[in-house]
Amino acid sequence: MLHQLDWSHASGGRLPAEASAPAAARAAAMAARLLEETAQGRLPFLNFPFRSRLERELPPLLPRLRARRHMLLLGIGGSALGARALQRAFAPGQDEPGHDGPCLWIADNVCEATLARWLDRLEPGDTSVVCVSKSGGTIETVAQYLLVRDWLRATLGEGWREHVLLVTDDRKGFLREEAAAHDLPSLEVPDHLGGRYSALSAVGLVPAAFLGIDWQGLLDGASGVGGSLLDAARQGTLADHPAFRLAAWAHALEACAYDQLIFFCYLPQWAAFGPWFAQLWAESLGKEGTGSQPLPATGVTDQHSINQMFLDGPRNKGCLFLSGPDVEVRQPAGQGLHFAAAMPERWQWLAGRPFGCLLDAEGLGTRMALCRSGVPLVHLRMADASPRAAGALMGLLEAMTLLTGWLNGINPLDQPAVELGKRLANARLGAPGLPEEERAMREFMAQEGQCQTF
Ligand code: PA5
Repeated sequence: MLHQLDWSHASGGRLPAEASAPAAARAAAMAARLLEETAQGRLPFLNFPFRSRLERELPPLLPRLRARRHMLLLGIGGSALGARALQRAFAPGQDEPGHDGPCLWIADNVCEATLARWLDRLEPGDTSVVCVSKSGGTIETVAQYLLVRDWLRATLGEGWREHVLLVTDDRKGFLREEAAAHDLPSLEVPDHLGGRYSALSAVGLVPAAFLGIDWQGLLDGASGVGGSLLDAARQGTLADHPAFRLAAWAHALEACAYDQLIFFCYLPQWAAFGPWFAQLWAESLGKEGTGSQPLPATGVTDQHSINQMFLDGPRNKGCLFLSGPDVEVRQPAGQGLHFAAAMPERWQWLAGRPFGCLLDAEGLGTRMALCRSGVPLVHLRMADASPRAAGALMGLLEAMTLLTGWLNGINPLDQPAVELGKRLANARLGAPGLPEEERAMREFMAQEGQCQTF
């Protein structure tokens, strides 16, 4: 069976049939742009030109990484969310009772209590520190790196170098200088591969490989989607490609004032792809007053949480509904949890059935309820839940995001608005060369003070 997109309810009975026509009319221009930008190396998450180098350089590092029980990953945003999604999907043991396998700790915040606890409890000699930053200058990541470097040195002396791996730009940035200064092992974050599109490079694949996840399967899945997209662009069939159709749908939704996009995940182990997708979508598309707010949700948990708002709140939401194979496929006969043959009378109708049938039934129930509420919904049904399938999903969503940005007339590969907050925070901390930010901050703080206690 192949992965499927079901378009039956994409309009929710509310989106006019002609809403996606303007996008379809631009397919030829988009195809030309895709081919041109790929040829210039600007869309490496579609054709993976860095793959052979990664396949050469990562395997020799693995024996040392895997010899240690712990990996401490320092990174934030796109440098952390993909790793977390892959860990939760394919190596969830660490959150479960009785775990005695490898442990991945992702430090993607500046919570002093958490980092202090981790450094107190981790054994430097049994820990690899992987510091991930495309720019090599992100303050949250560099600050943690400097503290962790001291922590390693205090115990391991000069041996600290053998416990560090830097994943960063090949030529520039503080981390690249650090790699050169201390002769530290490093892997590249390839050119033109911004954080949120970089999960399937060393950024996410080093932690994945450490956890024993089939990282090449992930790459195969994503390359399959990227390759088929570029083939479609060459053959003049881009308008029919799933990524383009999704982008045209998202663009049409926005044009019709649907300014929120639910990502409802009914593959519970894949729930962390929700925050990964939310960052990809929000940071790529929230530009110049356009874009739709991503709303990640997990089935079935969020049926008892935010789903009421999806169903009967403002009529401004579309839904990408993700599910996996049915229980008969997930759980071959005789395996997995089953209800007993003798059940309390009130629950007798569940007797002998697999526990997994709840997920399918509740997924169907919620999907149908959303459709009946008129929520425009596209159903992504994965044929299986393998790393290869996850790679295909990630590749599809990255391509959808890129194309939606192009249809919206913005640059989906930058994130200018978030830079201001970073500069202001640096100014507040006393970083040099930010006089304008310092002045603006003084003015802003002078205005504050209309406080109320509670
Ligand atoms: O998607 C993005 O580009 C951002 O979220 C970055 O990943 C994040 O800001 C971290 O940047 P860097 O990898 O340069 O440390």
